[in-house]
Amino acid sequence: MKRKFKTEIDAHGIRALLSRHPEIRKLKRYNTPSFHGNRFWKSSWLLMDYFKKNRLAKGSQVLEIGCGWGLTSIYLAKYHGAKVTGVDIDPAVLPFFDLHCQYNGVNISRIEIGYEHLTEEILSHVDILIGSDICFWDQMKDTLEALITRAMKAGVKKVVIADPVRDPFKELCKDIALMYKSDVTFCEISDPKPILGEILTITA
Ligand SMILES: C[S@@+](CC[C@H](N)C(=O)[O-])C[C@H]1O[C@@H](n2cnc3c(N)ncnc32)[C@H](O)[C@@H]1O
Repeated sequence: MKRKFKTEIDAHGIRALLSRHPEIRKLKRYNTPSFHGNRFWKSSWLLMDYFKKNRLAKGSQVLEIGCGWGLTSIYLAKYHGAKVTGVDIDPAVLPFFDLHCQYNGVNISRIEIGYEHLTEEILSHVDILIGSDICFWDQMKDTLEALITRAMKAGVKKVVIADPVRDPFKELCKDIALMYKSDVTFCEISDPKPILGEILTITA
């Protein structure tokens, strides 16, 4: 008898398509992400769980950096009434973002740009800057630190970054603690599966 494998996860009210989903397989034939944007990452569920417990004001302007397939962006647009924009450096990732928006019935704008190029002018229109699993190479710590500095200068109210506690993220947290009012919280969730990690929050 042929075994039937799941092709998507339904959690936190979001449909997340797995690599074996026929539409994902089709997209993967023509789009090969270069910076680990080849799937959605566990920390995105941590970020959703954080916002479930720390609700956003309706209409909040949110920028998700390194958005990948965009699950948290979709969650905040759909369930918090946030005005979200996804940012990713990799053009090969954005078709997966668009497909998830379509499957979840939301329309979210996205920009193809490296977060190192987000200017104070762009950031001045943002209330909350978020990201999950975006600090995985050593050089990303410095780039993110500079971005957070620009964001704070531009008047961004809060930065929230979820991570599976990779070394560059730990270094980022240490440096940020010396510069801004920040907090690092251990988190553990069981839905859609057991996931551990940390959330860095920085408040203006
Ligand atoms: C590990 S994936 C995480 C994706 C998503 N946040 C998640 O949790 O599923 C890292 C993402 O960051 C993007 N990325 C890497 N460097 C970037 C940069 N400098 N600016 C914007 N996006 C970047 C990659 O293209 C990729 O989509």
